[in-house]
Amino acid sequence: MKFIISDNNQKGYLMSNESLKKSIEKFGKWMYKFELAEDVSTPLISEEFQKVHDTRKKMIFSKLDNIIKRWDNLRCLDIACNEGFYSFELAKKGIKEVIGFDAREINIDKANFIKKFMKVENTSFFVEDVEKINDELGDFDLVFVLGLLYHVENPMLILRKIRSLTKGICIIDTQVNRYDSNVDLGFGCTGFDKQTKDIIAIIKENDIEENITASITGLSFIPNKSGLFTMLREVGFTELEQIEPFPNSYEQYATHDRIIIIAK
Ligand SMILES: C[S@@+](CC[C@H](N)C(=O)[O-])C[C@H]1O[C@@H](n2cnc3c(N)ncnc32)[C@H](O)[C@@H]1O
Repeated sequence: MKFIISDNNQKGYLMSNESLKKSIEKFGKWMYKFELAEDVSTPLISEEFQKVHDTRKKMIFSKLDNIIKRWDNLRCLDIACNEGFYSFELAKKGIKEVIGFDAREINIDKANFIKKFMKVENTSFFVEDVEKINDELGDFDLVFVLGLLYHVENPMLILRKIRSLTKGICIIDTQVNRYDSNVDLGFGCTGFDKQTKDIIAIIKENDIEENITASITGLSFIPNKSGLFTMLREVGFTELEQIEPFPNSYEQYATHDRIIIIAK
């Protein structure tokens, strides 16, 4: 994958490949492979990540390219953007403005490094916990919530915030748990039993100190697909469409352990 945003980047290149490599190495391993110069790319945490990015980039943009006729008047928010890969993909489309944020400073330092190196004008990044985001950011034509919902302990709080920030389309990419049957429970008094198909799995993440892609609290509440749809409707999204994987998609998408929803 070549990652060239504009000709400026080539003109503005002031680093030798050796100093570029050293700068990249200072950041440690990366979540995305940015090809910055001939023979210089950011080293991945795991080669498998590339398959995830390739699959969902194709799934998301093949859909958006059909829906969006003009990119240049859109404001976009990339929630939990990590190193900003999807913000840069949107920048390449010529979008008016992309704002990305992530709870981890190291991720945003890397995003800013790429932004500066590539001279990408229409993106900006900041460090923040999604739980602390408020309406000051304004609202957005396009909101990306990729790879976040299975790393948070207050998914409804976060989804409510996301809904209020979205004036157009929200793209949600997440793992869902596999449970697909009814659960019975007592509810209040004897005889008041309930049944639900909307089930949440609770996962402890024990690597939050060293894993730059993880939760920040160590506890994640992950709904099944039925539960996710109920939650999305509950916060006010009225149109939900699941983007189907294409042949040879990364296994997690092919099996629907991981799904992508367009919510409006
Ligand atoms: C699996 S990565 C996904 C990164 C990117 N959105 C993508 O899908 O390629 C999860 C990201 O969420 C960030 N994150 C976790 N909890 C967060 C929170 N409460 N607020 C903001 N970012 C958070 C992590 O630092 C990490 O960059």
